[in-house]
Amino acid sequence: MTCSAVVPAAGRGQRLGGREKPLLPLAGRPALAWVLEALSASGVIAEIIVVASEANREAVESLCTALGLSLPVQVVIGGAERALSVRAGVEHVPDDRRYVLIHDAARPLVTPELVRRAIAAALRHGAAVAAIPVTDTIKQVASDGRVVTTPERSTLVAAQTPQVFRLDWLREAYRRAGAQWVTATDEAMLLERAGFPVYVFPGDPENLKLTTPLDVTIAELILERRMRGNA
Ligand code: CTP
Ligand code: MG
Repeated sequence: MTCSAVVPAAGRGQRLGGREKPLLPLAGRPALAWVLEALSASGVIAEIIVVASEANREAVESLCTALGLSLPVQVVIGGAERALSVRAGVEHVPDDRRYVLIHDAARPLVTPELVRRAIAAALRHGAAVAAIPVTDTIKQVASDGRVVTTPERSTLVAAQTPQVFRLDWLREAYRRAGAQWVTATDEAMLLERAGFPVYVFPGDPENLKLTTPLDVTIAELILERRMRGNA
């Protein structure tokens, strides 16, 4: 197995009123537990590196121990921005791994199948990002609210995680980005800027990111439906 998973879980959940998403109970178990179980069940991940904050480190460590997964799970400390947290995790990926998968702890609806699809796409392209078509018309606006332009919707997709990259490409992208790497809102952006070809593969509309209370309500309904076996 040549792929490590890095799971950023060091955010503060400010848009959720300061509730930490990785530890948020959803249909009976914390969001991070759903993520780690899906990664483990995929059968294509060699080890998981969870990136915690100083504040949630102990709780994250206890959760990882309590899950008793069959693959190694390491907890490392992240930074004040998601990019810093992911990079801290990537630094712990063993040098002999060929690929690294990055998946947000805030996306607990990821499935083993989506993880396998991500790896298959990365084996083909070297850099692969889960994405779904956008259904809204997207407008670019100026700070005063005036619409600047309306990009053609058929060319737009919404990027999710998992994102999987060749480890050597990601490390080279960090090097080429210089001080700019910290401004990237996802790691695919770093590879794009560095000139590596990045491809999308079909994500899952159910693989939503917990951002607002509405997302939490929807995620719980989906997880409960899956548990009833009606998925
Ligand atoms: N994350 C992280 N380190 C940070 C910020 C975010 O590891 N300094 C992680 C979050 O834990 C989450 C993922 O990155 O799993 C996506 O971030 P986001 O959805 O923005 O979560 P938060 O930063 O926690 O939420 P908010 O922006 O509302 O504070
Ligand atoms: Mg955030």
